[in-house]
Amino acid sequence: MNDSENKVIEQTVDFVRQELSGAESGHDWWHIFRVWKLSLRIAKEENADLFVVSLGALLHDIADAKFHEGDETIGPRVAETFLHSQSLPENIIAGVLNIVRFVSFKNRKEKPEFLSIELQIVQDADRLDAMGALGIARAFSYGGFKGREMYNPDIAPDPDMSKAEYKQSKSTTINHFYEKLLLLKDMMNTDTGKKMAWQRHRFMEKFLRQFYSEWEGKS
Ligand code: ADP
Ligand code: NI
Repeated sequence: MNDSENKVIEQTVDFVRQELSGAESGHDWWHIFRVWKLSLRIAKEENADLFVVSLGALLHDIADAKFHEGDETIGPRVAETFLHSQSLPENIIAGVLNIVRFVSFKNRKEKPEFLSIELQIVQDADRLDAMGALGIARAFSYGGFKGREMYNPDIAPDPDMSKAEYKQSKSTTINHFYEKLLLLKDMMNTDTGKKMAWQRHRFMEKFLRQFYSEWEGKS
């Protein structure tokens, strides 16, 4: 990236940190930071545009719909206004907005305008941050925030939930592994993402085995 692009990235970091101050821990600045670093790592291996990937990663959760009564147009609108304030070329803005609109797990059944390599990368990085040790930590943090039970052997997981059911579900945090976290490894786009997902997936399986064993007082 050149000097003027680096300057835009700095401004974007400031803007995003400001906008997300006070966000719950699943979508706070540190989630953005991790997705950004992970996206860059994948982008270097996949020969993608580092500027578009960086902007897309930094802006991908700018106004998470869950905290705006489900209005999913807010994120892209906030991002668009910000990108225009930076006087960026239209093709860059279009590439970044395509990421912001279509990166979310919840939107997986809707088709993006174009499945750019940059979108595929940020989507992989966002999914990876919901897996492994960090994914486990985020799930329990989110479950606590929502007042959910950690685990209840009487409530079965439902991996085929629709988008509306997924949002409203009263399921437990352990069930969230079967409803989302363990499905992510088969949804990765890039080869680099797939490799990383596999490791994080195995770590979650190991965690679950230990969890059930401790639950039963066996270890
Ligand atoms: P995304 O931002 O990728 O669309 P979400 O907003 O659904 O994903 O989830 C953000 C984080 O909160 C993820 O780490 C996810 O696993 C976690 N999370 C979402 N729903 C639940 C839930 N019902 N129970 C536990 N964790 C959840
Ligand atoms: Ni995210």
